[in-house]
Amino acid sequence: MINCALILAAGQGKRIKSKLPKVLHKVCGKEMVNHVIDTMREAGFQEVNVIIGKGADRVKSDTSSREVSYSLQEEQLGTGHAVMCAAEYLKDKKGTVAIFTGDAPLIQVDTVKKFLAYHEEEKNSATLLSSIVSDATGYGRIVRNGSEVVKIVEHKDCTPEQLQIKEINAGMYLFDIEELLASLKSLSNNNSQGEYYLTDVVGILKSQGRKLGALPIDFQETLGVNSRGELAIAEDIMRKRINKKHMDNGVTIIDPTSTYIGVDVEIGQDTIIYPNNVLEGKTIIGEDCILYPNCRICDSIVKDNVTVQSSVILNSEVGEGTDVGPFAYIRPESVIGKNTRIGDFVEIKKATIGDGTKVSHLTYIGDAEVGKDCNFGCGTVVVNYDGNKKHKTIVGDNVFVGCNTNLVSPVMVKNNSYIAAGSTITKEVPQGSLAIARAKQVNIDGWVEKRGLFKKKNK
Ligand code: UD1
Ligand code: CA
Repeated sequence: MINCALILAAGQGKRIKSKLPKVLHKVCGKEMVNHVIDTMREAGFQEVNVIIGKGADRVKSDTSSREVSYSLQEEQLGTGHAVMCAAEYLKDKKGTVAIFTGDAPLIQVDTVKKFLAYHEEEKNSATLLSSIVSDATGYGRIVRNGSEVVKIVEHKDCTPEQLQIKEINAGMYLFDIEELLASLKSLSNNNSQGEYYLTDVVGILKSQGRKLGALPIDFQETLGVNSRGELAIAEDIMRKRINKKHMDNGVTIIDPTSTYIGVDVEIGQDTIIYPNNVLEGKTIIGEDCILYPNCRICDSIVKDNVTVQSSVILNSEVGEGTDVGPFAYIRPESVIGKNTRIGDFVEIKKATIGDGTKVSHLTYIGDAEVGKDCNFGCGTVVVNYDGNKKHKTIVGDNVFVGCNTNLVSPVMVKNNSYIAAGSTITKEVPQGSLAIARAKQVNIDGWVEKRGLFKKKNK
């Protein structure tokens, strides 16, 4: 039997005050709803149906990589109504359905597995996850009679006594599908918010004498994000988990409170990360690297033994043993070879740089292929743009580019050639030659004195 999961993601999320649907806000680089989808899948819920409504197209496109199905809730009349909108999806299914909210991204795979095992062992009609908290503001309260779960009351509908209850509803449920579908028919919207609450299903099942359960778990896993403040709390909790995972794997993180690593980032053993580093997207960092402070590395592959300092690397690859920075900017689609040096104030864009090449300072290389063991003098510019089109420059192996050279693209510089400092190269430089492309120096004797410009103190 395949267990299926519904994820509620149709609300706009008024309290987060955003143009973006709430569930698409990211925590550690991944949309909240995608966190929930991925966790459910990993916990064994292969079939996932996402209930969409507000910003449906955007939610669909931002979850499209997950291959889920969708149910549409055109008007958001409450969480119970949202599940009714998935009735079509559920109607021929039997067994257990998990219903999770798309705004609670911190729930973990092992917890979901335990939850399912508990539900099955207890043979419950419905089981929910709860948490004991000191401040329950905003959450539904679990009303128990002794140890038995009786119902859930939403914060806004609580009596003063119920407001004192510290056990809250996490918004994560397992239901017997047929019983759920039957009890949804008895839901009403006769409450303070005029909504059809999914939480009322619990009381309905109880009144039919069904067996219910609630499993209390750590509040850090149940946190629901309704506001920007809660978004920052969720980010903080997830960040600590991610950093701990990397430290457990043998990565040194000098100051975990100021190290920001996305959920999908991989880092090799014995790499050392200094404060204020931001690693994003599908970045992979090798072993024995040192990331000195203030780097942002996004969707990039950094091989072993690389050092990076105060630099930005986007959608690029950096070979083994290379030094980057300080203050280098490696822009998308660049491939930097092994044992190279990309030094201070160097910008590389859509270029390949061969092994052993040194680009040490104040240089721009864009739309170019550069060979091995070259040396770029300070202030080299690849003039790749003619105001209309981008052109490509090709530099061979063992080329020495003198300081303050312009390589006007498209141009070819062949192997083992030299370019004199200050040259503006517009024609091919043949193999083994020296190119000088600058005006010859002329000295005019006594010119200063003739012009009466001699300063007395110089006499
Ligand atoms: C809900 C629970 C509350 C629980 C809390 C846990 C209900 C009535 N209340 O409250 O008991 O303590 O979660 O975080 O269920 N959504 C829809 N369609 C709708 C309304 C909401 O899809 O018509 C989706 C939202 O996009 C969101 C989720 O359901 O992802 C939860 O909705 P939200 O309004 O945040 O519920 P809470 O007030 O937090
Ligand atoms: Ca919520």
